[in-house]
Amino acid sequence: MSDSVLTVRDLEITNTVTGAPLVHRVDLDLRRGQVLGIVGESGSGKTITIRAVLGILPHVLEITRGSIEILGRATTSFSAQDWIDTRGTVISAVFQDPGSYLNPSIRMGKQVQEVLRVKKGLSRAEARAETLRLFEAVHLRDPELVYQQYTHELSGGMLQRVLIAAAIALGPEVLIADEATTALDVTVQAEILDLLVELKEREGLSLVVISHDLAVVAQLCDDVLVMRDGEVIEHGTAEAVLRSPQHEYTQLLIAEHERYGLDYFFAKHALASSRKVATYA
Ligand SMILES: Nc1ncnc2c1ncn2[C@@H]1O[C@H](COP(=O)(O)OP(=O)(O)OP(=O)(O)O)[C@@H](O)[C@H]1O
Ligand SMILES: [Mg+2]
Repeated sequence: MSDSVLTVRDLEITNTVTGAPLVHRVDLDLRRGQVLGIVGESGSGKTITIRAVLGILPHVLEITRGSIEILGRATTSFSAQDWIDTRGTVISAVFQDPGSYLNPSIRMGKQVQEVLRVKKGLSRAEARAETLRLFEAVHLRDPELVYQQYTHELSGGMLQRVLIAAAIALGPEVLIADEATTALDVTVQAEILDLLVELKEREGLSLVVISHDLAVVAQLCDDVLVMRDGEVIEHGTAEAVLRSPQHEYTQLLIAEHERYGLDYFFAKHALASSRKVATYA
């Protein structure tokens, strides 16, 4: 049996109002325990590709060609119930701007606990204990305190940790992080990236990491896809794509990145994660 957890073939996504194809001929492979990076300029189709994978495309957008398989199951014919059974439990995601995914008037603990009660059928006491365990797993410093807090009392980095806790609560195989660290400052960004790598190892997750930042991709990913104008223009191992990019656009991305301080990021990151360096070994 193949160790592929996510396979996309010849994907085309069309805006049904304008008839414009937004993404076409996209192929993607994620193998168990691997990290796949997707990079590319704004509007190149990264988010809608993974929204199609998660079955949460905006209403005007439609898959008009191709196939998506999660753990060998074709999702294009999924019913609403199939998606309910799959999202969160098999495949999960975190996005930029974590605050907007949480209810500002409900305490953090209760929001994560609800997911466990509804989807796993845990009792109130079991769900509370499991939520505290998850908060610890994502290195929230004081799980008991965070459990009682509201969104406005937490920093962006802490909110993203709560969201990651919620995303892994049901033990998914695949976690997708779409610009999950973009809004955070560099040090916090490095800490969240460390956390993703740690969770990958410990919980046996496979990751898709979407980022504008080539430094993120360089540190985290086994394979990389480069997207432009709705197409994958280059793909390969991170090593191959970043060291000897074949496509002119990838070369440009890397050149620009060097100009704006890849080394600076690496220096900062090395500082922030020196204690956890072993996770990259
Ligand atoms: N809800 C929507 N309705 C119509 N078109 C959309 C919608 N969401 C995205 N698009 C279009 O789909 C294309 C790809 O957008 P997408 O958000 O996937 O880009 P992206 O690569 O994620 O960009 P960014 O790096 O800025 O997040 C763009 O042309 C965008 O205008
Ligand atoms: Mg996007």
